[in-house]
Amino acid sequence: MDLTFFSIIFIYKFIITIEKLFFLGQYNLYVSSRVDMTERTSRVFESFLSDNCPPMGIYETLYAFRDSFGSFMGTKGTHPWSQGFPLTTPLEMFDGPSLPDSVEVTWEDRFYPKAWGHPKLRESITEYYNNRYGSKITPDNVMIFAGGRPGIYTVMAFLKERVKVRIGNIEWPAYLDIMEQTRTDFQVVPFTKENGFHPPNSSYFDRSNLNAKTLLMPVISNPQNPSGQTRSGEELKELIQMSEEPMNGILLDEAYEMFHSPSVSGIEFVEDLDNSNVFIAGACTKGLQSPGIRIGWMIASKKNIETLSNYSSFGMGGVSHPSQQYAIKLLETKRVERARKAVELHYNWQRKRYGRAFEDMGLGVYTGNGGFYHWLELPEGMESSELNRRLFKRGAAILCATDCDMARPHSKDSSYMSPYSRFFRFSFGPLLPESFDSDIELFKEVFKEYKLDIQ
Ligand SMILES: Cc1ncc(COP(=O)(O)O)c(C=O)c1O
Repeated sequence: MDLTFFSIIFIYKFIITIEKLFFLGQYNLYVSSRVDMTERTSRVFESFLSDNCPPMGIYETLYAFRDSFGSFMGTKGTHPWSQGFPLTTPLEMFDGPSLPDSVEVTWEDRFYPKAWGHPKLRESITEYYNNRYGSKITPDNVMIFAGGRPGIYTVMAFLKERVKVRIGNIEWPAYLDIMEQTRTDFQVVPFTKENGFHPPNSSYFDRSNLNAKTLLMPVISNPQNPSGQTRSGEELKELIQMSEEPMNGILLDEAYEMFHSPSVSGIEFVEDLDNSNVFIAGACTKGLQSPGIRIGWMIASKKNIETLSNYSSFGMGGVSHPSQQYAIKLLETKRVERARKAVELHYNWQRKRYGRAFEDMGLGVYTGNGGFYHWLELPEGMESSELNRRLFKRGAAILCATDCDMARPHSKDSSYMSPYSRFFRFSFGPLLPESFDSDIELFKEVFKEYKLDIQ
């Protein structure tokens, strides 16, 4: 009897233990799977793409503006002084031509485009330069891109390792992003008050401390974004002569070619394009008033154009035919003549009157005689970033010069002190003639308030 009793107790305990072990196992399994899941979700997701790809400085200003003001820059009630686009409506005050409303798209336009661009557009661009500047380029010297940026990006991406870029200490913000992403070797050329933000041509080609194999390629926007400083006449001729010397080249970005009296292109002085590393960038974006059409081009030697078009064959697939057809219309000879004159007159007038108003306010004005930007300095004790924060609240924005500083760390680093913290770029590109008084009034108010606050 005792034996039976103990056997029952033993079997009972055995079953309980087995059950416990089973549930404990399940529990452990559950716990460990939970741990595994939380570990997996809390582990930092790593993108396969570069972590060093912030938006261009100008876009950062746009996002900061939207966060502060609550709507996008460019919408009704905003003042796009930070923006680099021109008026996209006819410049009627100066007899500017109308802009085409449509293009015809035929069955042929639905074919794949030619890698180097539409033959008719290459012809139009060739005539555009040869008529105005007396150059002798042929369509084989022209490569079409979807805007100015892709052309510039592509040239930089295909530079040989021993090419060193020389670039102004201040330049168009996108260059820094492009050079960073394409791992371009570059060195800045001083842009200071002392040299009038206009260093001599020779400073771009200084070979001291370079080893013999280094090839030099200045990258210059001319007229310059952001300062409007422009090389023309004899000075531009000298720049091109230096660029055509052995082991030298140039990427001359002429997005603002028409925004100068008279319009200005280095092509006028090129002696032997096909035996050079001269690259001239142009686009429909500014002078032809069509940033949304996305047509740009590169003028270069036939050999260099072939390399760019080979890239297009595997990496780009050509450019939209409707956009190219639109550009052909924009470039009609008679139309272009009128557009050129109107752009020159309209923007000279705007540059002068905005410049005078800024001088009257007590700002330092260091603008050259081209482009559609003013290059301005705030008095001691003020900072353009603070000015911008105040402007945001009033629906306006400028571009802080630190964004144009080519020597700054690419990913923003708060410990970096830019020498341009009091400078900023004011764009009058998109401003209508009739907004002058209200724009100046608003700027004056915010500037005065800021000045009083720091006193
Ligand atoms: C100096 C410079 N180059 C080129 C461009 C043209 O850019 P995209 O045609 O890509 O708009 C711009 C436009 O802001 C510019 O300022």
